[in-house]
Amino acid sequence: MKRPLSLLLSFSLLFLLVLTNCKSRPAAPTGLVTEKAMVVSAREEASKIGAEIMKKGGNAFDAMVATEMALVVAYPFAGNLGGGGFMVYRKSDGDVGGLDYREKAPLAAHKDMYLDSLGNVIPEMSTKGATAVGVPGTVAGIMAVHEKFGSLPLEEIFEPIIELAENGIVVTENQANRFAAVKDRILEVNDSVTTFPIDCKVNDTVRYPALARTMRKIAKEGHDGFYKGEIAKTLASFIQEKGGFITEEDLAKYEAVWRQPIIFNYKDLKIISMSPPSSGGVTINQILKMIEPYDIGDFDHNSEKSIQLFTEAARRAYADRNYYLGDPDFTEIPLDVLLGKAYLENRMADFSFEKATKSSDISEGSVQMAESMETTHYSIVDAQGNAVSVTTTLNGAYGSKLYSDELGFFLNNEMDDFSAKAGVPNMFGLIGAEANSIAPEKRMLSSMTPTIVEKEGELWMVVGTPGGSTIITAVAQTILNGYEYNMSMQEAVNAPRFHHQWLPDVVIFEPEGFSNDLIESLKSKGYLINEERTPIIGKVDAIRVLADGRLEGGADKRGDDTAVGF
Ligand code: GLY
Repeated sequence: MKRPLSLLLSFSLLFLLVLTNCKSRPAAPTGLVTEKAMVVSAREEASKIGAEIMKKGGNAFDAMVATEMALVVAYPFAGNLGGGGFMVYRKSDGDVGGLDYREKAPLAAHKDMYLDSLGNVIPEMSTKGATAVGVPGTVAGIMAVHEKFGSLPLEEIFEPIIELAENGIVVTENQANRFAAVKDRILEVNDSVTTFPIDCKVNDTVRYPALARTMRKIAKEGHDGFYKGEIAKTLASFIQEKGGFITEEDLAKYEAVWRQPIIFNYKDLKIISMSPPSSGGVTINQILKMIEPYDIGDFDHNSEKSIQLFTEAARRAYADRNYYLGDPDFTEIPLDVLLGKAYLENRMADFSFEKATKSSDISEGSVQMAESMETTHYSIVDAQGNAVSVTTTLNGAYGSKLYSDELGFFLNNEMDDFSAKAGVPNMFGLIGAEANSIAPEKRMLSSMTPTIVEKEGELWMVVGTPGGSTIITAVAQTILNGYEYNMSMQEAVNAPRFHHQWLPDVVIFEPEGFSNDLIESLKSKGYLINEERTPIIGKVDAIRVLADGRLEGGADKRGDDTAVGF
């Protein structure tokens, strides 16, 4: 039977309409969906405690304090009292801000403190033991949040944390493996004696009575309970006995700083991310704005072209990161230029899909990332629509490995995030410059990228990840996965990732999701691929607000990460 032409046209139009709608219709959720509030973090205990605080009537900021503290108990790998972090928030009325509770160099620090008499970097002095420790910022951070936005009494928020430390946590397989992997180094740093339960096996319950005592004091006395008096005295003497530099004066002088976040548009998204001394916001801004003119969504997800485009933008952005960025209280950062349209267009002017740009003469593999890249991130949305995105860290796994038996927590090795010597890579292979050189009371440059995304003026995504230098690319890829490739939050978090950071001039791929043909084709275009090292890249914990206002969690399948809400 012959169809009349008009009927055929109507069918074609209908088909086109359906196709267009399919592409623009938001992806159905595949992660946990809740009606009102959610916490996604590296540990179920922490997500549960954060969510419970909101159920009791607390807001996202109360939940931030609770989740941060619960991670100290449940995830000592990166959760911390002896480290620092960054928070970006967006209140339900659209007001946004950022908090810097990054560690600082002690007063005794100086530019060449990690160099020997010949001017060479002394191996491990900035990564291991007491000499690596920066002045911790975490307690100042949570207290600043609580003072400005908290609604529940501090002691009520701390109650379940102290209970958790006293009653104990059950060791997961991932955790047991981590204990085993660092046991020797923890013993070495702590002179073969530690009360930290490094011999624990899967399903053992570990209790932290010393930590519970410390937490009780902080709950009662707030900021000064940690930075002045008994804890400060114990902490400073302990670090100095072990050869470190931190004094009671360093602790007494520490303050968290509220900072204006980096805010920019990517198509119809508004992205709010952390400003210096984190490089996260500036670098993700540069990467996404360099990509924007190319419509990356027209290339398939993780296809050769999309990898090339992302890699070349990251190459240029990390080169700027390493040269220009540092603590804004010490370093003039030309943000207007670095984030300007003309500058970023010009940066990509020599990009070609035909062949890779060369970063430098440093050959593949000459710089290695020496250690797992650990930090932790959590995302929170409360029933009022307040959103909190926090990344916090000890830097390396269990930081400097220095553990105070008396106080019950690890100390960071954040001093390694400074540039100990211009041109010499740190443990993430990042090369620094004068902007990130060491000075007393200066904050070391970070890659932490706690981020909140608005779509059409409404809260859309809360996102972040651990992963050292790979944090920025992992967050950027997760946003692109959700926005350009229309993935659900859980799919966007789970999708395979890759990373490039200018130097070393290699692209790193996760073990799964990238075919040999793809890798060979990239190699033929001049990309140097690190094939020996295919680590996991980041552990993203994120929340997406669905069109009907419900929340979808994205808890990274790469770890024990869990979304909890109601
Ligand atoms: N310690 C890792 C970072 O702040 O980037």
